[in-house]
This record gives sequence, structure tokens and C-alpha cells, in this order.
Amino acid sequence: MADRDALLELAVSIARETGEMLLAKRPARPEVLATKSSPTDVVTALDRAAEELIRARIRQARPQDAILGEEGGETPGLSGPSGEGAPGPSGANHVKWVVDPIDGTVNFLYGLPDWAVSIAVEVDGEIVAGVVHNVPRGEIFTAVRGGGAWLAGERLRCNTGVPLARALVATGFGYGAERRRVQAEVLAQVVPNVRDIRRAGSCAVDLCSVAAGRVDAYYERGTNYWDWAAAGLIAAEAGARFAGLNGKPASPELTLSAAPGLFEELHDLLAPLDPERG
Ligand code: IPD
Ligand code: CA
Ligand code: CA
Repeated sequence: MADRDALLELAVSIARETGEMLLAKRPARPEVLATKSSPTDVVTALDRAAEELIRARIRQARPQDAILGEEGGETPGLSGPSGEGAPGPSGANHVKWVVDPIDGTVNFLYGLPDWAVSIAVEVDGEIVAGVVHNVPRGEIFTAVRGGGAWLAGERLRCNTGVPLARALVATGFGYGAERRRVQAEVLAQVVPNVRDIRRAGSCAVDLCSVAAGRVDAYYERGTNYWDWAAAGLIAAEAGARFAGLNGKPASPELTLSAAPGLFEELHDLLAPLDPERG
């Protein structure tokens, strides 16, 4: 049986070291190295360097594990078939690391304070541990499944009992123009029904903000598994629901998180707007 606490400890030490490297090497104006899905979906040399460092440290400590990273894709592990969650031939657990080396690259580019190193650990297909290191703020959010969500030694609890009309709701936008048009349409129906909207620029930070009660809810269309693998567990361990629309699990179609009660209210506002379009 893989030791979840030991996996978290390793994830935290790697996220800490990666954050230190990024702070030390970040130039005043990082350069865009390439663009991905659209001209505004950028990657810097340090996104790649950070992922390489994370991969190297995982390989050193646990060479048998699989790794899925935003910049480097999927590297299968040696202990079982990738993604199937089956134990390997020796009965060992199949462990996969899910990495977003910098979540909030546009913030990183502009010197805005919310970007994070996100590392989650899956064992036999289930996320069991996660760390989100908000590097500029020096905050390390952690969770182990069943063990609560934590920041600086304090157990996190999401806000409860907040009605939709008083909810501060975080959201984000994809990089494609057509998707953004739909997201703006949906948002126009959300804004009049909530306290206000926040767009921090990092899905991982948004979900940690739900966990810490800094916002009441979060929803977004088009995020990827590495954006929320760690932070979704952190939000859930802080008492929030973390799921998709209509009983589906969180997915690139939609991710939604809030305390029970508010989750359903926001869900019921969003569902008829068909936010999975575009
Ligand atoms: C992005 C951030 C952003 C969200 C985008 C993500 P990246 O990740 O999480 O908040 O709105 O959907 O792609 O590109 O900075 O790693
Ligand atoms: Ca991301
Ligand atoms: Ca990223």
C-alpha cells in the first residue's frame, strides 16, 4: 500500500524547491518561448524548466511512477498500465503524478502575485494527495484524502451557509476566442445573481481560495486535469463539493466547487445556460 503521507511529503518538498528555483530565476520580464492553443496561451522557458525539475525529482525518488505534466505529456510508469488504475504485476500500486509546473503563467509573465506549482498524486486511479504552492505569496496548501486540507498548520474549511445572492464567485476564461465569447455570455447571467466575481488567473489558486474561504465558489469551463488535480482535493477536503454539471465528475467540460447548498444553487443557475458549449 503506497504511503499517502510520504507521497505528500515528497510532493511538498518538490513543490517548495521548484518555487524557490522559479523565484530565483524569474527575470523582471519573462520571455514568451512559444504559444500553444492560441496566441494568448503562452509558455515560458521557466514553465519547461520547472516541469523538468519536478520530473527529475520524482524520477530520483520513485523511478517506477507514471508522470502526467502539462508541458511534457504522459510518461507511463513501470508498476501498472497507465490510467487504468490496476496494480502492477508485483501487486504494487500504480502511482501517477499530475503536474502543472506553473498554473497562472500569464500572472507569472506580468509579475502578478497568483501563480502556483501544482502537484497531485494518484494511486490506482484516485487522487490521494495534492500540494499547491502559491509561490509569490509563500503559501503551501496541502491535502491527503480523508486527512483534511491544510495551510501553514491550520485546517481549512470552506465558507458555509452563503446564499447565491451573497456569494463571491471565482471563475476563469479559456484561451480560445469562441470559447471566451460563450463564457462571457454565461457570465453575464451570473453577475446579476451573485455578490461579485473574481478572476485571479489560476484555477489551482481559485480552488484553494474556495478551501480557505477567500471566495465562496468557483466554476470554469475548459480547465485541464493538471489545473485542478491537487486543488480539487484541497477544496473537497475543506468541505466543498467539487464536481461537474448534472452529476458528472469535474472535467474539462465544467468544474464547479462550493459548499453544499451553494453548490446546488450555482449549479442550477448555470445548467440552463449550457456553459459546456463552445
Ligand atoms: C490556466 C489558469 C487559468 C485558467 C485557464 C488555465 P495555465 O492555466 O489556470 O486560471 O483560466 O483555463 O489554462 O495556462 O496558466 O497553466
Ligand atoms: Ca494550468
Ligand atoms: Ca501551466
